[in-house]
Amino acid sequence: MTTTTTTRRARGGGREDAKTTRERSRARDGDEAATWDARRDADARALGALALAPAAAAAASAGGASDAGARACVASAAIVSWGAYALTMRLLPTVGAKTLARNMSGYDLNKKGTALGERRVPESGGLAAGCAYAVALTMQQLCQRVIRWWFGQSASGTNAWALEQNSALACVGFMIFLGFVDDVLDLPWRVKIIMPGFAALPLLLSYSGGTTVLIPSPVRAMLELPAGVRSVDIGPLYLCYMWLLVVFCSNSINIHAGLNGLEAGQSLIIAGAILLLNVLSLANDPSTEPVTAGAHLFSIFLTLPFFATTLALLRHNWYPSKIFVGDTYTYFAGMTLGVVGTLGHFSETLLLFFLPQVLNFVYSTPQLFKIVHCPRHRLPIFDPKTGLLHPSMATETRYNMNLVTLFLRLFGPCTERVLCARLLAFQFLSCAFAFVARHALTGVWK
Ligand code: UD1
Ligand code: MG
Repeated sequence: MTTTTTTRRARGGGREDAKTTRERSRARDGDEAATWDARRDADARALGALALAPAAAAAASAGGASDAGARACVASAAIVSWGAYALTMRLLPTVGAKTLARNMSGYDLNKKGTALGERRVPESGGLAAGCAYAVALTMQQLCQRVIRWWFGQSASGTNAWALEQNSALACVGFMIFLGFVDDVLDLPWRVKIIMPGFAALPLLLSYSGGTTVLIPSPVRAMLELPAGVRSVDIGPLYLCYMWLLVVFCSNSINIHAGLNGLEAGQSLIIAGAILLLNVLSLANDPSTEPVTAGAHLFSIFLTLPFFATTLALLRHNWYPSKIFVGDTYTYFAGMTLGVVGTLGHFSETLLLFFLPQVLNFVYSTPQLFKIVHCPRHRLPIFDPKTGLLHPSMATETRYNMNLVTLFLRLFGPCTERVLCARLLAFQFLSCAFAFVARHALTGVWK
């Protein structure tokens, strides 16, 4: 009897010990997760502040909007964007839980061999950002209508403005849908590349703006054109150029991807640069038109909610990701930035902002067009012993031809967080270079 009781007690004690060990390890995991949550949040906030600071400083030094109508418009855009940010933060945990329940998840390949690499990370975080963005654009249109009516602007002006905004919304909505289809069905690569071509059509079919382009001064001199000929109407060719630009932007973010925070981080920095460009343009060339200052305010209204939703996504997607952005986000982001650049009439500067994506695309072409073997993923190789990433191979003799691999080859192996920070620093520098180039070429190029 005594022996049995002792054995039972011993067994009970063993169970207790195992329970305590389990609890301790759970508590340790919980502490670790809380530390990473805090670090992820701090990093994402710092990146958001860095990306927005130049535009905010430029707006403050310009003294804000000049007339009451423009001030009301900017205030409504800021409030709507804040709402979009809050909505994305609210939707992300739900989207994550639902996609995980539907098995729409992926393994974090840059952590293979560690506990973080064993867990399933939900896909399609972009769905939360995209939906919040679509709601924000619609709300913004409502605010704009009321403000314009209040300040007595003509109905035809308001309708022309709404047409452009609705065509942007159609393209972005179409792209979010196709991106989500890709996340669900995992479409073949050739289908992925042409998808944005269809999504961009609403923009082209309702485009009523100019198709005239300024001829660069060196070209005018080379062709010995008369002094009066400064521009040329290229008609359908302009639409073709717009189409190619939007298709390029949509695909380029998707192939400069695969590190925690890289997709959302690059989009956030480009959006910050677009905001700065528009604020500077408005400050240097204020329109006399009441309420709207044409393309620049329009571009700010499309970009500010995008910045807000992306920042919210980044707070979940930065290293170590709690959710992947999915193709829903990469296509949504590329399409939004492409549409903003085209409708805002600064496509050349946009291409300078997209310098890392252009380089990555050009460098990738042999793999994209199957001249060199292209594996399903062109991600680095993770060494679980050191925690460092190493360049990956496409074939036995060739490295993968993308910026991620090139940076590892140029600057040596590093952690995923550092590699992403290096690539984002390059994105910052490219945007800064775009402003310097614009300044230097004013009067020389056009
Ligand atoms: C594109 C790239 C591919 C890259 C992939 C990563 C080309 C031609 N294709 O393919 O090389 O590997 O994006 O997004 O350049 N993942 C991570 N960590 C991340 C983000 C994603 O491990 O931070 C992995 C996850 O397993 C996730 C998967 O990538 O499930 C998503 O890949 P997907 O977006 O479907 O790849 P593609 O867009 O087809
Ligand atoms: Mg992708």
